[in-house]
Amino acid sequence: MHRRLRDGVHGGRNLVTGADPTHDGGPILEMVGISKRFGAVQALTDVDFSVDQGEVLALVGDNGAGKSTLIKTISGAGPADDGIISFAGEKVVITRPQDSQALGIATVYQDLALCDNLDVVANLFLGREERRGAAIDEVDMERRSSELLRSLAAKIPSVRIPVASLSGGQRQTVAIARSLIGEPKLVILDEPTAALGVAQTAQVLDLIRRLRERGLAVIVITHNLAEVDAVADRIVVLRLGRNAGEFRVGEATQEDVVAAITGAKDYTGGVAR
Ligand SMILES: Nc1ncnc2c1ncn2[C@@H]1O[C@H](COP(=O)(O)OP(=O)(O)OP(=O)(O)O)[C@@H](O)[C@H]1O
Ligand SMILES: [Mg+2]
Repeated sequence: MHRRLRDGVHGGRNLVTGADPTHDGGPILEMVGISKRFGAVQALTDVDFSVDQGEVLALVGDNGAGKSTLIKTISGAGPADDGIISFAGEKVVITRPQDSQALGIATVYQDLALCDNLDVVANLFLGREERRGAAIDEVDMERRSSELLRSLAAKIPSVRIPVASLSGGQRQTVAIARSLIGEPKLVILDEPTAALGVAQTAQVLDLIRRLRERGLAVIVITHNLAEVDAVADRIVVLRLGRNAGEFRVGEATQEDVVAAITGAKDYTGGVAR
């Protein structure tokens, strides 16, 4: 049942040659047999998961299915008990957020962790302030902030206004832009549109497409299947902490995905990738 992923990890030319799969569009992240327990709760059981470079992967499932728990095993916020993780073809161990960041994985959590009283530039460079001599190079940071936001076609009125005065969608944009400052290879977004209106959601979906255009891998957790159809390339369904189906967008109906989420039908036998 896990043949494809297991072959990729154990038989893959990448581990043998050490070639960087980021150049062939292969999986940037590959996880096999991930399990995680919280006391009596088995939150994840033998989960397989992968995301390719330049791919938007939607991670879906009901409340409590294990989505956030799986993300935390990647981001280092809550390491897996068991399983194998490979990144860019190399086996890796992620036990702390720093491990994840050092690999080039950026996670944007739902609370965004922005500093409301600081302006956009300060938020983008928080903790990474550029220094020229002793003084922080504000001019350079402002220039780079404007460039970054322009490259994302972000609609932010000014990079010198406090984040508190931005809309929800604009704040989400700033949080995603901030995750790009470290030049990650994989960006993880936990329900990026959950609190947003229609127009703001469209803006964030557009931004996700731009991340893909840059060749980044993106994992998006969402409950909105219309949104999945609009932006994702592939869908991975978790149910009760286990793989419950995997679909290519366009090859499955929303009914199929819902049936996998609820367990009305069993898709674990393998649906076309
Ligand atoms: N820190 C924790 N301690 C104990 N149990 C936990 C902890 N974190 C998660 N769980 C349990 O693990 C299971 C998976 O939870 P998780 O938060 O990963 O689900 P989810 O798919 O993200 O759900 P939601 O859509 O509601 O965010 C749940 O049964 C949850 O109660
Ligand atoms: Mg969650």
